[in-house]
Amino acid sequence: MTFDDVRSAVAKLEAQIASGPIVPTVTPDEIRCHLAARYDFTRPLDLDDVGADVERMLRTWQVHVTHPRYFGLFNPSVTLASVVADTLVAMYNPQLATWRTSPAANEIERHTLAWLTGKFGFPASAVASFTNGGAEANLSAVIVALTRSFPEYGDDGLRRLGAAPAIYLSDQAHHSFDKIAHMTGLGRRAMRTVATDRDLKMDLDELARRVAEDRRHGFAPFMVVGTAGTTAAGVIDPLADLASFCRSQGLWFHVDAAWGGAAIISPRLRGHLGGIEAADSITCDAHKWFSVPMGAGMFFCRHPDAVGEAFRVETSYMPGKTAGPVLDPYTTSVQWSRRFIGLKLFLALAQRGESGYVEIIEHEARMGDVLRESLRREGWRVVNTTPLPLVCFTRDGLVTAKFLAALYDRQIAWMSEVRLGNGAPVLRACITSLRTTESDIEWVVREMGRLV
Ligand SMILES: Cc1ncc(COP(=O)(O)O)c(C=O)c1O
Repeated sequence: MTFDDVRSAVAKLEAQIASGPIVPTVTPDEIRCHLAARYDFTRPLDLDDVGADVERMLRTWQVHVTHPRYFGLFNPSVTLASVVADTLVAMYNPQLATWRTSPAANEIERHTLAWLTGKFGFPASAVASFTNGGAEANLSAVIVALTRSFPEYGDDGLRRLGAAPAIYLSDQAHHSFDKIAHMTGLGRRAMRTVATDRDLKMDLDELARRVAEDRRHGFAPFMVVGTAGTTAAGVIDPLADLASFCRSQGLWFHVDAAWGGAAIISPRLRGHLGGIEAADSITCDAHKWFSVPMGAGMFFCRHPDAVGEAFRVETSYMPGKTAGPVLDPYTTSVQWSRRFIGLKLFLALAQRGESGYVEIIEHEARMGDVLRESLRREGWRVVNTTPLPLVCFTRDGLVTAKFLAALYDRQIAWMSEVRLGNGAPVLRACITSLRTTESDIEWVVREMGRLV
């Protein structure tokens, strides 16, 4: 099979999106009226007609995250190979819950994850699985860490623990952990928000002080989350120091590298992730900087026994156990039925090769530098420090909400506002498209200058 049809459809859409608007103006009523008028589901409709209508809706009524001037929230432009992969997955609909139901898909995922496991410096005995996204990978980490730290947690639950468990993370960590604390029964108060230093990195002295204080008060510290590429400002916590602190204190060290983890394959950037190899577990999303469609997260863990214990289950209705060392994914991860998530990364990686992927990552990092330099030249003040392509910036007297409304209205670019610490809102622009060029950036910065 060749993929000419998909290829030409993707090329056509890319061109259309790049020359069209980025931000829609639409009300919920407008869309609801359109849907109600056309789709009461009482009679069959022609698939081509419905498909064309859906495409029209998607083209006109969404923020185009694949636009080269979308500088947003880690939603990437996607590679052709990853689009082909999702089409193949939908056609074959492989079930990856057990190894036997799709040996091919399971082994392709395993092979792909083993490549990245090695890049992170984890041993070959580490386990990894694809997840729907970073939140599920972070959830997996907390469940496995709890299981390893408190052997009675699995059977008797948290209520049987002698002391209340506590998790430590910076005030810049991702807020999926709030929901995870809620969902796991830890409770949101189990989260200890550790202050950051002036560069927004987790403050180690403050961490040590909080852990010691909690121990004195009878709590049970069990996990520290370091972030490699914070959502607001792209900051990387001091991973090596956090790793040695956790080792000395017997704490689980998780690195949330949902976005920044992709930098591990870049010779230019990987040094910034030093210490990640000493983590107990890592979150890294393929659907962020690896430029594949949602949802594709990944969870890596150096303790296969703890993963096996956390997700163990016995049934008579699932196809029988596979002989040998192969484990069924439904017994080693949060999910049960499992989509072939990993094919999009495998196919894109196979097509471009590792060096092709390094080029994407380093191109986007370079575009981040271009954006920083260009903003400074035009009188903006950059307020975050990171080697990753995420720039937070402002200028005196700027009212961010008003400025963004004008930016969207003129379809100049999509970026967002964010508050760093207790500061006033600033603008946040992240390079997430492999197709963003230097001239896109220079044009955007020039046009922004006309709005202030
Ligand atoms: C650092 C970090 N961790 C976790 C997540 C959650 O990932 P997802 O949206 O894929 O569930 C995000 C999302 O942006 C993130 O930035």
